[in-house]
Amino acid sequence: MLLSIRELTAGYGRVQVLHGVDLDVAAAEIVALLGVNGAGKTTLLRAVSGVVPTWSGQTSFDGAALRREPPEARARRGLGHVPEGRGILSSLSVRQNLRLGATTRSDRDVETDEQWLLDLFPDLRDKLTDPAASLSGGQQQMLAIARALLARPRLVMVDEMSFGLAPILVTQLLELVGRLRTELGTAFLLVEQNAAVLDVADRAYVLGSGTVRASGPAAELSDSDQLMRSYVGAHG
Ligand SMILES: Nc1ncnc2c1ncn2[C@@H]1O[C@H](COP(=O)(O)OP(=O)(O)OP(=O)(O)O)[C@@H](O)[C@H]1O
Ligand SMILES: [Mg+2]
Repeated sequence: MLLSIRELTAGYGRVQVLHGVDLDVAAAEIVALLGVNGAGKTTLLRAVSGVVPTWSGQTSFDGAALRREPPEARARRGLGHVPEGRGILSSLSVRQNLRLGATTRSDRDVETDEQWLLDLFPDLRDKLTDPAASLSGGQQQMLAIARALLARPRLVMVDEMSFGLAPILVTQLLELVGRLRTELGTAFLLVEQNAAVLDVADRAYVLGSGTVRASGPAAELSDSDQLMRSYVGAHG
């Protein structure tokens, strides 16, 4: 397994949010993580990327345990995280934001990778020297994803990629995720409240109150009306 999470607990201060989560992502797999507001989806991604400390449980990535490694060390090992809100630095240019994704790399192919990423996201090529603040919401999401990909990750965790985007753009980005998996072998863990993610995901988990309420092949979950009504947001 590329990512393996067992009995993970975590929270903020004395408030426990995650109550023993088990979740796996295989190499080149697309996994959806669904759940209503406050279920703990963002907290789970933060615990995996090391932004919030793990209280107990085991997480391994690419065959080795993640213990107290800081987020940068996890990123260097191939773990990408597109955070909730995208984390774009609005006063920097589009290119400067993109290059932040390469700070974990020491090889010389960054320029080449930047070029193929800009082929993938032509909107960004047109605006490379503009301040990131001038991008639309969809373009900012593209920039956040491109920045994560510039680190050459083995797994990218994306927190609510579809949030605030027009349905047509959501479809395009999900198709792109499918292509990246096929062409690069990149695995994805996609936190979503939009059920459209189930069209591209192999498997899905439903998180509720900090525990896994259901999991299985994405097609089976999307066929379950009851699950969808109970655990997926209204815009799903
Ligand atoms: N920085 C924080 N400090 C304290 N409590 C927090 C913090 N961030 C989140 N929480 C609480 O942790 C719980 C889980 O939040 P989390 O953001 O992980 O949920 P989520 O599933 O991502 O929700 P959403 O769909 O709204 O993004 C919520 O009760 C939330 O209020
Ligand atoms: Mg969240």
